[in-house]
Amino acid sequence: MKVMLVGEAAREHAIAEAVCRSRFEPKLYAAMKLRNPGIISLCKRTGGEYVTGKTTDPSFIVESAERFHVDFVFVGPEEPLFHGIADALEEAGIPCIGARRAPAELEMSKAFMRRLMWKHGIPGRLRFKAFREVEDAVAYIREYAESVALKPARQVGGKGVKVIADLQAYLSREKAHVKEQHAKIISEEHMKGYTDIEDRILIEEKVEGPEYTLQAFTDGRTVKPFPLVQDNKNAFEMDIGPETGGMGSIAGRGMLLPFITMQEYRRSTEIVKACVRAVEAETGYKYKGVVSGQMMLTAAWGPTIIEFYCRFGDPEAVNVLPILKSDMVELCQAIIDERLNKVKLEFEDIATVVKGIAPKGYPDRRDLAKGHPVVVDEEAVKRKGGRVYYASTDLQPDGTILTGGSRLVEIFAKGKSIPEAGRKAEACIPFVSLADGWGVFYRSDIGSEILLKRRIEQAELVRGVYKYRFRKGLVGKTIEWIPGRGKIVLEA
Ligand code: GLY
Repeated sequence: MKVMLVGEAAREHAIAEAVCRSRFEPKLYAAMKLRNPGIISLCKRTGGEYVTGKTTDPSFIVESAERFHVDFVFVGPEEPLFHGIADALEEAGIPCIGARRAPAELEMSKAFMRRLMWKHGIPGRLRFKAFREVEDAVAYIREYAESVALKPARQVGGKGVKVIADLQAYLSREKAHVKEQHAKIISEEHMKGYTDIEDRILIEEKVEGPEYTLQAFTDGRTVKPFPLVQDNKNAFEMDIGPETGGMGSIAGRGMLLPFITMQEYRRSTEIVKACVRAVEAETGYKYKGVVSGQMMLTAAWGPTIIEFYCRFGDPEAVNVLPILKSDMVELCQAIIDERLNKVKLEFEDIATVVKGIAPKGYPDRRDLAKGHPVVVDEEAVKRKGGRVYYASTDLQPDGTILTGGSRLVEIFAKGKSIPEAGRKAEACIPFVSLADGWGVFYRSDIGSEILLKRRIEQAELVRGVYKYRFRKGLVGKTIEWIPGRGKIVLEA
């Protein structure tokens, strides 16, 4: 059995490790942009190989898979899928765990995703407007004073989202100015060079509440959800600072987070399932691979889709894959053969915490964060009860590991509770540093009692409102009061 992995982040290191635990004893092959030392060591240990190159280039991936004679390919990140890697592999007769280009649009185009939800009447849909021309977005902003989320219409690595509350009439002009400026930044900077979707700017109604990620495997017929995970996107403690790819994540025992109920988990899964079915109806292609709902508990709907991923989240994958008890290769084969309903998806009953460690400069000045020699004492981390997953790092021919500019490692730890796992992960932090004295940072609050308490309180407030709205038949509806016109009910 030979498996080839595409991608080089901590998520792919965790996928690689889960594949290598299989009873089928696969040889691991990898196609990566950077030389991830964790993945390379697994390739060597299992008798496989790795290549580096442009992982968004279908011919590079197909040629590598053919050269290694692999049984199937697992694609970790989204961009190769947006570039049609799965389609090219399938056409060459090589099965792929990863959505084809058309279904992957669920993540690639936020406007496609919103239109799909409205067309198919899927719960948790937010009101939105998508614009191709920045002038039209600006005209809309000037006309309507609303609290909004402004987003690039395409997935651009999680960057460019700005949420603006617009509640005080006396500040409306100033707020409109901020929104207009950001719409221009989205069009000119974040969407620069992307010509693969029509829309450029998305303006969405603003919602608030605790966020969580529901990751799942699907063969297009069955959707098998993983335990819920909460990622923490802000760079600094207590949710402040610029948005990153994710500074760390938590998962509770069983399938739930301490602030999400079983009913909300089931409803979230139903929403994801409905979208997978709708994607097939819309594109004509079965969705095969990983689908993740990045969700929020909102007052308007309860469980609500903020974005989709056509992949595991990172760091979310690192919470769940190390505790996967089922055989990863068997699961992949079941996806390929469309018999996922016949295979069990089981996990250890344990809480997990993942902490990302990043070089200073990340996320805004990656040029400064790049090229520093990394020192990781993996044995010491193990003694403290943690595990190292290599992220944006590049192994050099002389054995030095250099930072790639993003999070450099993710530390995984498990425990009887989230705070216990958090304390273990925390104890591992001193064993990761940069040899040239350049600083690193991480978030000590992730996995702490205090942050957990804050999330639970926030969820309880939101839950009180959405349950009241359910009882009153107001789910998904917004009631506006416009002076001189009276009450307006906006239906979902
Ligand atoms: N954790 C956020 C992402 O994977 O995009």
